[in-house]
Amino acid sequence: MAADILDRFKESLEETVIDTENKLRVGIIGTGWIAEAHALAYAEMPDVEIVAGADLVPGKAEKFFKDLGIKGVTCYESGHEMLENEELDAVSICVYNTQHAPCTIDALEHGVHVLLEKPFTVTLDEAIEVMEAEKKSGKLLTIGFQPRMSENMQMIKKIVDSGELGDIYYLQAGGGRRRGIPTPYGTSFIEESTGGIGAMGDIGSYSLDMLLNAVGYPKPLTATGYTSNFFGTDPSYYPNHPEYAEKFGVEDFAAGFVRLKGGIMLDFRISWAMHMDTSGDALILGTKGGLKIPSTECWNGEFDKPLTVYKNVAGSEISYEVPMVEKTDLFYKKVRAFVDAAKNGGEPTVPTSQAVINQAIIDGLVRSSKLGHEVSIEIPEV
Ligand SMILES: NC(=O)c1ccc[n+]([C@@H]2O[C@H](COP(=O)([O-])OP(=O)(O)OC[C@H]3O[C@@H](n4cnc5c(N)ncnc54)[C@H](O)[C@@H]3O)[C@@H](O)[C@H]2O)c1
Repeated sequence: MAADILDRFKESLEETVIDTENKLRVGIIGTGWIAEAHALAYAEMPDVEIVAGADLVPGKAEKFFKDLGIKGVTCYESGHEMLENEELDAVSICVYNTQHAPCTIDALEHGVHVLLEKPFTVTLDEAIEVMEAEKKSGKLLTIGFQPRMSENMQMIKKIVDSGELGDIYYLQAGGGRRRGIPTPYGTSFIEESTGGIGAMGDIGSYSLDMLLNAVGYPKPLTATGYTSNFFGTDPSYYPNHPEYAEKFGVEDFAAGFVRLKGGIMLDFRISWAMHMDTSGDALILGTKGGLKIPSTECWNGEFDKPLTVYKNVAGSEISYEVPMVEKTDLFYKKVRAFVDAAKNGGEPTVPTSQAVINQAIIDGLVRSSKLGHEVSIEIPEV
């Protein structure tokens, strides 16, 4: 009896019923490194069938599915051919950055839902073209920032939304790598023709998503950007592949100031390589409190040390740590959220209305860096 009464205090958890009768028919475009996380997540889901895959490197898609032990997948050398020949409900787009826009537009024009890997695109113009195709298609498009699925990361937004920090006026992006130009799997991140943008698109986009999502993705107004490539273009950086230095066509470090609507200043820094352990912690300053998000070099998941809140309480300067919850498989959660939204007509986890702001900031920082002065940022209405 007593237990029954206490049980009434337990939150009733909604059980997700997975409809295995109607399987979502998915395809994967680009079967490189990150596609593996998508394929393995789909393969675990009883209500999903991986029907097809495509990679422009001959034989790569076949080998990819064979190595993962995923059977019955028809493989193509082009995403377009796959979309023309298969009856698909959804695709994961895991191609390098410069192919994000064309592959996504093609998929939307073929009437399929899209989970597009981050960054959204390379330029703001491309992002707008994709959003126009999205609007026309009426299909779901979500951008693959898996840290959004982390309860520890979600706490940042919860703290800001709770009002604990008051009105936010300053954001500092921190973290970044001392040595971490991502070349272990080849040069697709560092060549201009494939990566298009470097550290900013790779990990800077995560850092922006974390901070901007927390404060409701305010529109950017102006940007002053700086980019450099001193490490990537130095052959001694890659003792086993000095030829990579010649191929390096993006930035390995970037910094800048961005004015956001609502009187918020964003102080941005990101690094693939620098003579420093970190460019600092990420900070959110508000009129009633401040939040420190411990520096992380990887940015593709969560931070490793607790968040700290700084306040004045009864005239005393106090700070407290926010306990962390156990980490979970963010990739699985990201793909599951996409599948659920595709099957049930739900909302995208990371809508393009937010991702376009992320992209507009990167685009503004790149433009400003090239021009050597501040630029204004305008995001066309779609
Ligand atoms: N969410 C994450 O944690 C995460 C991690 C790594 C990479 N990524 C993103 O995923 C994307 C891919 O990264 P990666 O590390 O897998 O790169 P990768 O170079 O290993 O793989 C990309 C693959 O796409 C293929 N490809 C390119 N254009 C194509 C096209 N038009 N049609 C068919 N195939 C095409 C390439 O041949 C290659 O096999 C990048 O945009 C990257 O930013 C996300």
